[in-house]
Amino acid sequence: MREVLLAQQENDEDRILNLSLRPERLTDFVGQPELAENLTVAIRAAQKRAEPLEHLLLSGPQGLGKTTLAHIIANEMGTKFTATSGPAIERAGDLIGILTNLGEGDVLFIDEIHRLSKVVEEFLYPAMEQFQIDFVIDKGPYAKTIKFNLKRFTLIGATTRSGFLTAPLRARFGLAYHLNFYELADLVRILQRSAGLLSVRLDAAGAQEIARRSRGTPRVANRLLRRVRDYAEVKHDGAVTAEVASAALDAQGIDRLGLDPVDRRVLKVILDQYAGGPVGIEALAATLNEEPDTLVDVVEPYLLKAGLLRRTPRGREASRQAAEHLGLAPKTLL
Ligand SMILES: Nc1ncnc2c1ncn2[C@@H]1O[C@H](COP(=O)(O)OP(=O)(O)O)[C@@H](O)[C@H]1O
Ligand SMILES: [Mg+2]
Repeated sequence: MREVLLAQQENDEDRILNLSLRPERLTDFVGQPELAENLTVAIRAAQKRAEPLEHLLLSGPQGLGKTTLAHIIANEMGTKFTATSGPAIERAGDLIGILTNLGEGDVLFIDEIHRLSKVVEEFLYPAMEQFQIDFVIDKGPYAKTIKFNLKRFTLIGATTRSGFLTAPLRARFGLAYHLNFYELADLVRILQRSAGLLSVRLDAAGAQEIARRSRGTPRVANRLLRRVRDYAEVKHDGAVTAEVASAALDAQGIDRLGLDPVDRRVLKVILDQYAGGPVGIEALAATLNEEPDTLVDVVEPYLLKAGLLRRTPRGREASRQAAEHLGLAPKTLL
């Protein structure tokens, strides 16, 4: 289970390939039209005033392009990009070196920003607001607070759980954008662009077939494209048609809705062992021998969006569509 679940997240192969497939400029960034338009305006305005871009919060499920956008922003602003993540910053001191090395308009990207500790978060407030940090040197009677002025940088925070962000931190972002799952047509465009970069012969129907099973997620689309490419090369002449894509994805256990064995197992457990739910996330995670966070961050978002799962105050419920899709009949739904 754990291995399969991890397979949904980014592995090393992914990371390397994603780097080569990552769009560098806003014009190459497909989809999210509203966000792209607002961001373009914000960037142009900042450039016109010769000012850094305001601090920006990006929220949304994994694999939708948060890290990609942060890179694009630094490229568009023509500034340096520095990345870290909430869990990586253990003490406020870890941030001093990073912050003092930032130049005017540079981008500091903090991934999983909802996982910053309270102390670190509070240390960030004056850095974000006044571009100033206070740090204490020496101990006891000789302790002194030193103020240090920073260059005006842009903090870009990314989070899969915008609800977990504290109000004071959220309030310090001038801009906040949410990324939604991608439309089919956008996924098709992303796949065609990736196929071009990877020299895969992908026809329109093949792209449609992969896009349909990509869970609205560019990272998944790119991963499925590679699996289909392997299959097409080994079992056929390398060309990816709808039939080849369909056979390849069936062989991978990716069904018509894009669900993989883990998704199906989650729904099956709710339907079979909890009579369709509601079941609390903790109990569900325990039954599946998984971390609740992984379920919430990796598995749930698409099941919710696809209408297969519902979140209620008493826990998670599988929907009638989920039962139908799996060919199961939960007692509570009958
Ligand atoms: N809008 C997009 N257009 C084209 N490719 C995209 C887009 N968004 C994401 N991708 C692809 O998906 C991969 C994963 O995106 P990433 O930015 O790492 O997601 P997140 O940080 O939200 O988890 C990227 O490497 C890129 O190849
Ligand atoms: Mg990311």
